[in-house]
Amino acid sequence: MAQFSKEIKKIAVYTSGGDAPGMNAAIRAAVRVAISSQLEVVGVIGGYSGFLEKQIQTLSLRDMANIIQRGGTILKTGRCPEFLKQEYREKAADFIQAEKIDGMICIGGDGSFTGAHMLWDEFKIPIVGVPGTIDNDIWGSENTIGFDTAVNTALEAIDKIRDTAASHDRLFIVEVMGRNSGFIAAYVGLAGGAEGIFVPENPISVEKVIEKIKSGLSRGKKSSILVAAEGQKPGRAYDLAEQIRKKSGFDAKVCILGHQQRGGSPTASDRILASRLGAAAVTTLLENECDVMMGVQSSRVVRVPFSDAVSKEKELDKEYLKLASLLST
Ligand code: ADP
Ligand code: F6P
Repeated sequence: MAQFSKEIKKIAVYTSGGDAPGMNAAIRAAVRVAISSQLEVVGVIGGYSGFLEKQIQTLSLRDMANIIQRGGTILKTGRCPEFLKQEYREKAADFIQAEKIDGMICIGGDGSFTGAHMLWDEFKIPIVGVPGTIDNDIWGSENTIGFDTAVNTALEAIDKIRDTAASHDRLFIVEVMGRNSGFIAAYVGLAGGAEGIFVPENPISVEKVIEKIKSGLSRGKKSSILVAAEGQKPGRAYDLAEQIRKKSGFDAKVCILGHQQRGGSPTASDRILASRLGAAAVTTLLENECDVMMGVQSSRVVRVPFSDAVSKEKELDKEYLKLASLLST
């Protein structure tokens, strides 16, 4: 957390990293609060690349019309490997200063916040973060924008798959997103009644899952759903299916949900979270505070230092996994 002294007259808003449903609602909240506080607002297009390619546009109240319900991000997003190098961050800082941008709002995940923290550290550019990622893996906020929508999207798919699983007495493995994080898998697994959940944080053995399926079969349970986070290798559900086939002879059908989890209209919960955090980010800048992310803890909006948000590990509550296992007998 840091304080700065200059008066804020003009701010820039950008989205960075993977898109997440609700990013538009956060942009809308930030822009409308800023304009109602007499600030000038520009949007930077395409994340950190937008600073290097000088892609910015003025944003008005009307530009925010009809976007609260839209997935994706009207400002575009992306990954910008150059930003890992100081020379490119310096180029971006020169552009920010030339455009007379006094403060910025970064909507993204921990990688984007690391870049934002560096812009403060190296060039004293005041930035406030808003956590937008479907993975829900940012320390300091109980929820991130997009997570609830992604869980509901995956759940809808699982409910449909369950119809086929039950009709054909089949075993399914549904792969959800989450490279290093099992939040989506754990929540969807619990809400969808999964018989087994594979998450990176708490690996379970294929043997244990097979045992559970066999025990279900002996009690007349003829179909099962397993949920697996993609982990380091999207498509790992096929490896799991092959292992299960080799070790038990069971034929597991695979369904990979993929990027549909990143899209779609945000849920009410994500729109509300995005509106609260986007608005609070502007208030924080107007109070001359920066180098922080807005988060939600016990339903209250809080300020979390970027240094904590990017360095601390948000733990998945293992109770979700235990409960899902207990309830899916
Ligand atoms: P997310 O913000 O969703 O975690 P990424 O990890 O892909 O997504 O990060 C988004 C962008 O943030 C990267 O493409 C890069 O431009 C910037 N970034 C990530 N890590 C760093 C870093 N260590 N230093 C500077 N910039 C970074
Ligand atoms: O946004 C987070 C995330 O969905 C991860 O769960 C996933 O591994 C990654 O993004 C994939 O992103 P992309 O396809 O954009 O590289």
